[in-house]
Amino acid sequence: MMKFELPTLPYTYDALEPSIDAITVEIHYDRHHRGYKNKLNNALEKYPQISEGKTIENILSDINSIPEDIRLSVKNTGGGYYNHNLYWSILSPNGGGKPTGDLLKAIEQNFGSFNEFKEKLTIASNTLFGSGWAFLVVNKSKELEIVQYANQNSPLSDGKTPILAIDVWEHAYYLNYQNKRADYVNAIWNIFNWKVIEKLYNKAVK
Ligand SMILES: [Fe+2]
Repeated sequence: MMKFELPTLPYTYDALEPSIDAITVEIHYDRHHRGYKNKLNNALEKYPQISEGKTIENILSDINSIPEDIRLSVKNTGGGYYNHNLYWSILSPNGGGKPTGDLLKAIEQNFGSFNEFKEKLTIASNTLFGSGWAFLVVNKSKELEIVQYANQNSPLSDGKTPILAIDVWEHAYYLNYQNKRADYVNAIWNIFNWKVIEKLYNKAVK
């Protein structure tokens, strides 16, 4: 059976400081993310053929084809694995600022301006009740949309391709920010890797 692997973190644990502190990154990546990866592999063990030659994107995009007895588990752990793969990949110690090119144009077209987009995504992150994520996605009409998902549910299962993810589970910020989710969400704008997000956008609209 093919096993899903934990992607290497593209920077050191302390690289995202002061936006996200080193201990939070270490625990979040090495325990939470690794835990989702391990539990996903365990869940798939019963049906080794399911993951053969498939990416996690393939699996989540067609979640209803997963046998019912492991579907919820694959949805939760596979979503957790995939969402965190995306999250770490779109952050960078040299991030921040604004996107350029086609993504910036699409943001301005959809949301009016980059600042209006920033405000809407910030509100979506701050108002999500409980644990979950705010995403910028490309929908089936190839348009940008801001969406909120509870738990580890994935926009891929609704035919939407996420290109930016903000983890608002408490484990993403509580050690440094305690209950102040809004401060964490404000700080994360300083570490978005727009080059990577632009590449994901260009791939999604192709
Ligand atoms: Fe997380």
